[in-house]
Amino acid sequence: MIDFSSLRRDAIEGLIRLENAATPFPWTARNLLDSFESSANAYLIEHQGESIGYCVVQRVLDEAELLNIIIFKPFQSQGFGAEAMQKLKQELAGSGIKSLFLEVRASNLVAKTLYEKTGFTMINTRRSYYRVANQKAEDAIMMRCIL
Ligand SMILES: CC(C)(COP(=O)(O)OP(=O)(O)OC[C@H]1O[C@@H](n2cnc3c(N)ncnc32)[C@H](O)[C@@H]1OP(=O)(O)O)[C@@H](O)C(=O)NCCC(=O)NCCS
Repeated sequence: MIDFSSLRRDAIEGLIRLENAATPFPWTARNLLDSFESSANAYLIEHQGESIGYCVVQRVLDEAELLNIIIFKPFQSQGFGAEAMQKLKQELAGSGIKSLFLEVRASNLVAKTLYEKTGFTMINTRRSYYRVANQKAEDAIMMRCIL
């Protein structure tokens, strides 16, 4: 069973090390610090008392945006991402959120599959949204789930 707990600022460095091993496009410590300094909420995703990932959500009125979700490498592809997403949706719906939005790289097939399986549908494409020096620009797929 999945639990959420508040992500503490002093856990950031360790989380970023795990994130670097989990994805080719990791957030930086600065990205996470910015979420503490904005109104976003960051949660540790836990399974049997162990940290297996984290997610960051920004709420605005009755809508929310999932800014990031990571399941750390040793725990991927075991259903934890889907379980965490269902729990997050339940918690957001319970606090009055009506729609959850997110953006995903067009090439991130695992994440896109996860989102489609958990009730998200594509609403738009931002052409060449992700630009990194010396790499081909990549589209962002915008998705929404009605809670
Ligand atoms: C994307 C991510 C959060 C998914 O979490 P996860 O725990 O690995 O996913 P799950 O095991 O719950 O799988 C959900 C679905 O994704 C698909 N999937 C999972 N692993 C897969 C793999 N290795 N290859 C292909 N499809 C895969 C499956 O269809 C699966 O559903 P199913 O088991 O019912 O068939 C995780 O892989 C991750 O942290 N990736 C790196 C960071 C990232 O890309 N985050 C998203 C940013 S937008």
